[in-house]
Amino acid sequence: MSKSPAQPQSGNAILDWIDARFPLTALWKQHISEYYAPKNFNFWYYFGSLAMFVLVIQIVSGIFLTMNYKPDAQHAFQSVEYIMRDVYGGWLIRYIHSTGASMFFVVIYLHMFRGLIYGSYRQPRELIWLFGMIIYLALMGEAFFGYLLPWGQMSYWGAQVIVNLFGAIPIVGEDLAVWIRGDYVVSDATLNRFFAFHVIAIPLVLVMLVAAHIIALHEVGSNNPDGVEIKKKKDPKTGIPLDGIPFHPYYTIKDLVGVVVFLAVFSFIIFFVPDMGGYFLEANNFIPADPMKTPPHIAPVWYFTPYYAMLRAVPALLGTQVWGVLVMGGAVMIFFLLPWLDRGAVKSIRYRGTLYKGWLAAFVVSFLVLGVLGTQPTDFLGQVNKMDVAVILARVFTVVYFAFFVLMPWYTKADRTLPEPDRVTG
Ligand code: HEM
Repeated sequence: MSKSPAQPQSGNAILDWIDARFPLTALWKQHISEYYAPKNFNFWYYFGSLAMFVLVIQIVSGIFLTMNYKPDAQHAFQSVEYIMRDVYGGWLIRYIHSTGASMFFVVIYLHMFRGLIYGSYRQPRELIWLFGMIIYLALMGEAFFGYLLPWGQMSYWGAQVIVNLFGAIPIVGEDLAVWIRGDYVVSDATLNRFFAFHVIAIPLVLVMLVAAHIIALHEVGSNNPDGVEIKKKKDPKTGIPLDGIPFHPYYTIKDLVGVVVFLAVFSFIIFFVPDMGGYFLEANNFIPADPMKTPPHIAPVWYFTPYYAMLRAVPALLGTQVWGVLVMGGAVMIFFLLPWLDRGAVKSIRYRGTLYKGWLAAFVVSFLVLGVLGTQPTDFLGQVNKMDVAVILARVFTVVYFAFFVLMPWYTKADRTLPEPDRVTG
C-alpha cells in the first residue's frame, strides 16, 4: 500500500501510536465511515453482508467440529455421532454448521439474483462479478468436499458419482478420476484429502477472494436499485456523491437488522427442523458408508440439484456421458460471461422492458423446476411414449436456461427500456 496521508491526531494515545505504524484509521475511513454508498439500498442489499456473516459462522463452527471429528474411514461416521451425542453442545455446533451450509447457498443465490435484477455485473463492476463467480465455484467445491466427511451412504455415493464424472473425459478421464480419489474407489485416502481441502485450502481461498471482491467493490462503488452511477453527481465542495451516505453508521445499522432476522430464521431451523425434511440433511446419510451397497436413489443436496437435473437430462450419445458433464459445467461457467452478454441501455430492472423481464422470469422458473426435478428419481412423473416425463421437462428447461444467456445480446438490445433517472429515486 502507498504511504497513507498523515492522520490528524485522534486524541487517543493508543490509536495514534498504531496509526503512526499501520493505517488503521485510514482503512476504517476508506472502507467504512467514509465509504459513500447509494442511499437507496433495499431488501436485496442485505445478502452481501449476510454472506460474510455466514462465512464467519461456518469457519468458527467448523473449527469446533474439527476438534472432535476424525478424518479416518474407520472412525469418521462414529466421530460425528460422538459429536452429536457426547460432546457438550456438539449437536448444536453440528447443526449450526450443516444448516449454515444450506443457508450459505440461500444467501448466495439471493445475492446473485440481486446482481441479475439490478445489472450489478455490468461495467464498471465486471471484476466484482468475476471474483463473485470464482467464490461461487470455490463454495461449491467447499460444500462437495465437506459432504464426504460424515462418511454416510450419501456422502460416499455422492462423491463416487461426481468423481466418476471426470472419468467421462476422453483419454485422460480415468486416470484423472484415480488421481482425484487417490484410489480406484472413494476410500480413506479420498477422505483425507477432501478433509484437507475442506478445512484449510478452500476456506483460505474463500477469505482471500471475499477480500478481493470487497476491494474491487470499493474501488468502483456500489450499484443500487436504480442502476444510477452516484459518482456522476458529486457535491462540488466536498466531492461526496450527492446520493451517497456513509456506510457507517447508516448501513452498519441496516445490515444489523438483516443479521437479526437471519438469526431468527437460522435458529428456528436449527432448533425445530435441523434436517429440513431431508433437504439440509438426508436420511440416507445417517447410515454409515457401505462401498458394497449402492443406495437406490442418489441425489445431491438441494443447492446442486438444478445442475444435477441437467446432467441427467442429456443422453449419453456415442456411448459417453461427457455431453451431460459439458452441459452441467457450461451451465455454471456461462454466468462468467454475463457482463459481456448484456447489451441493455439500462442496468436496473426498474427501467428494463418486457423482453428482459420475461426472459429473467423464464430463467428463474427453469432454475427452480430443474432444482425440483434434480431431487427426484427420473421416473417419478411416469412415462409418455416410453420417455420419462421428468426427463422431457428437464430437457425443455435446460434449453430455456441456456437461451436466457445465449439470446441475451439480442433481447437486451431489442428491449424497449425506460429512460434512467439522473439521480436515485429513493
Ligand atoms: C462468500 C461469498 C460472498 C460474499 C461474502 C460477498 C460479499 C459481498 C458484499 C459484502 C457486497 C456489498 C454489499 C452488497 O452489495 O450486498 C457484495 C457485492 C456484490 N457481490 Fe458479492 N459476495 C459473495 C459472493 C458473490 C457471488 C457468488 C457473486 C456473483 C457471482 C457476487 C456478486 C456481487 C456483485 C455484482 C456485487 C456488487 C453489487 C452492487 O453494487 O449492486 N458476490 N458482495
